Formats: sequence, structure tokens, C-alpha cells
Amino acid sequence: MILILLGAPGVGKGTQGVLISKEYGIPQISTGDILRKEVKEETELGKKAKVYMDKGELVPDDVIIGMMENRIKEDDCKNGFILDGFPRTVAQAEAFDEMLKKNNLQLDRVLLIDVPEEEIIDRLTGRRVCPSCGAVYHIKNNPPKKDNICDQCGSKLIQRDDDTEEVVKNRLEVYKKSTMPLVEYYTKTGKLVKINGVGTIDEIFGRIKEVLG
Ligand code: AP5
Repeated sequence: MILILLGAPGVGKGTQGVLISKEYGIPQISTGDILRKEVKEETELGKKAKVYMDKGELVPDDVIIGMMENRIKEDDCKNGFILDGFPRTVAQAEAFDEMLKKNNLQLDRVLLIDVPEEEIIDRLTGRRVCPSCGAVYHIKNNPPKKDNICDQCGSKLIQRDDDTEEVVKNRLEVYKKSTMPLVEYYTKTGKLVKINGVGTIDEIFGRIKEVLG
């Protein structure tokens, strides 16, 4: 199964991606996570990407497209994959169509997760992440068992640099301008399904499973 998770920053793409990955046994590929790893390791790509990420702007298409071309060819993708955060522009969607064609693959579904803007701001400013294993929490909605400590690996949780209110507002603007056109792009393919992203994490996962079967 090849799946795209589409939606504004903070709608729960990463949270649901992890659950879908476990349930269906296919990897979740998060462009944000790949980029943050590059930033942490201070690679050339990471240094370039950080300038855009810190402001909530998109990393240039050519960088992202090259990165994804390589990633989907890796061994763990042979039974499918879940894309979280890609494509994010029409140019990326067109490049992804080409990648599918070249590798003889077919996109199955695009899940558009929908959450009102006020709730998004609350979700992102309250998000805490584990810098070691990548687990995602929320101070109110999905807190760790021990204050500020990762349940899975015991590391101290941090707030992402781009989760401040000012940067979140810019990320939402960038989403509207650059990524929302993809809703029309994928509606035309007949593969897009809208998922109500308000409710508990389990409720939303239930809605997704109903669609995926
Ligand atoms: P990226 O990491 O992809 O960020 P994003 O799209 O802004 O998405 P988020 O990770 O912020 O949100 P999410 O939808 O995954 O929500 P989550 O599950 O964590 O990208 C970061 C940056 O990298 C970009 O700004 C850009 O610079 C660059 N980049 C990445 N991809 C790119 C591309 N293709 N092209 C160019 N540049 C690119 O949930 C959010 C919070 O809500 C959490 O705290 C969670 O616990 C909580 N939560 C989840 N579900 C619920 C629920 N049902 N109820 C209440 N709270 C919930």
C-alpha cells in the first residue's frame, strides 16, 4: 500500500503515521524527521535545510525530491510506504508521479486530515518530542507518564524550534499557499479521502482504518 498523509502542520500526520505503520507493517517516511536528523548531524543538507525550517518556510523542491527519490528505493519500501510531509508542493507531487511511473508503482490513497486552525496552534505549541527516539507527546492531550521524560527511552523531551506561536503561524500560511493546491490535485485522481482529525488519537485512527480496510 502506498499512502500519502496530507494536512496542515499539527493535524496529526506523524501521530497517525506511526499507528498506520504498525498496523499495516509498512514504513512511515517523514520528510521532517529526515531533515531534522540531517540538521542534528550538521550535514551539508542539514545546514542548508535549517535556514528554511527555523522560519517555517519550505526547503527547496530539488533538495526534497532528490532525497525522496533515494528513500523510496530502499529495501523496507518494497511492500509500500506512508508519506508524511511529502509531497508538499505541486512540483513535488508531479515529481512523485514520475517516481511512481519509473518504479512501476501505484498510489493507493491520499488521506487529508482536517483540524480547525485554533486547535492546530494549541497542538503545536504544546507538542514535546523525544530527541533520541522521535516519540511525540502533547503536554495536555498526550502527556508522557513521567513529566518531560520519554516513555519509550527515558530521554528528556524537548520543544521543536519551529513550534513557537510565531513560526507556527507562518507554517500555516505556507501550507495554505503552497500545499493546499494539492487537495485539488489529488481530488482529481479520485484517491483523496477527507478524515475528520478532531477527536482522540484512537478515534481518528479508527476512522482511518475504516477507509483503508
Ligand atoms: P514537518 O516535520 O513535516 O512538520 P509539519 O508538516 O509542520 O507537521 P508536524 O510534524 O508539525 O505535524 P503533524 O501533522 O505530524 O502532527 P503530530 O502528529 O506531530 O516539517 C517541518 C519542516 O521541514 C517544514 O516546515 C519544512 O521547512 C521542512 N519540510 C518537511 N517536508 C518538506 C517538504 N516536503 N518540502 C519542503 N520542506 C519540507 O501532532 C501534533 C501535536 O498534536 C502532537 O503534540 C500530538 O501529540 C498532538 N496530537 C496528535 N493527534 C491529536 C489528537 N487527535 N488530539 C489532540 N492532540 C493530538
